Amino acid sequence: MIAIVYGSSALNTQGAAEAIAAELQPYVGAAIEVIDVATIKDNLEQLQEYRVLLIGCPTWNIGELQIDWEDAFPHLDALDFSTITVALFGCGDQYGYPDNFQDAIGIIGRRVRELGATIIGRWPTDGYDFDASVGVEDGMFFGLALDEDNESELTVGRIQAWVAQLVTELPPEVLAT
Ligand SMILES: Cc1cc2nc3c(=O)[nH]c(=O)nc-3n(C[C@H](O)[C@H](O)[C@H](O)COP(=O)(O)O)c2cc1C
Repeated sequence: MIAIVYGSSALNTQGAAEAIAAELQPYVGAAIEVIDVATIKDNLEQLQEYRVLLIGCPTWNIGELQIDWEDAFPHLDALDFSTITVALFGCGDQYGYPDNFQDAIGIIGRRVRELGATIIGRWPTDGYDFDASVGVEDGMFFGLALDEDNESELTVGRIQAWVAQLVTELPPEVLAT
């Protein structure tokens, strides 16, 4: 019922996906599946089986999607997200790329919203230091913003807080009874 689909080139977002799965699992009924998008990028239809998708994508190459999400992205258009609740998370580097920090979650978030998704798990920009981001709308990130390059010591706490927030926003039918 819940899958975490991530792309990751330097393994930071993979680590976040696994940590989020471990943190969220006790709250939900069915086993959370953790999927590397590289393994399904030509076969994204299977994502429609899930009620909830957590989508993880770091920003690479100055405002671009991670390479496997780059490949998968056009195939999203064939999907109907109207029954799917989506939460986004990503890794970025706010000091190295202050004009494009976390662009990827905004690129994917905007597209899945156009395709019908309900987005949960938006995250405040307070405490981050950057200038511009496609990943921000109305003063909030599209999802959890992690920065393993500069603030890895904050990652565990951010994941715990975000998962606690998600539990209050998830569709009730996916929660453990
Ligand atoms: C060449 C290069 C370009 C990058 N471009 C951006 C960027 O535009 N925005 C951003 O927030 N982070 C950027 N980053 C930082 C990565 O997103 C960050 O290192 C992230 O943790 C990588 O995630 P991954 O290990 O899951 O691939 C860039 C890193 C490199 C090496």
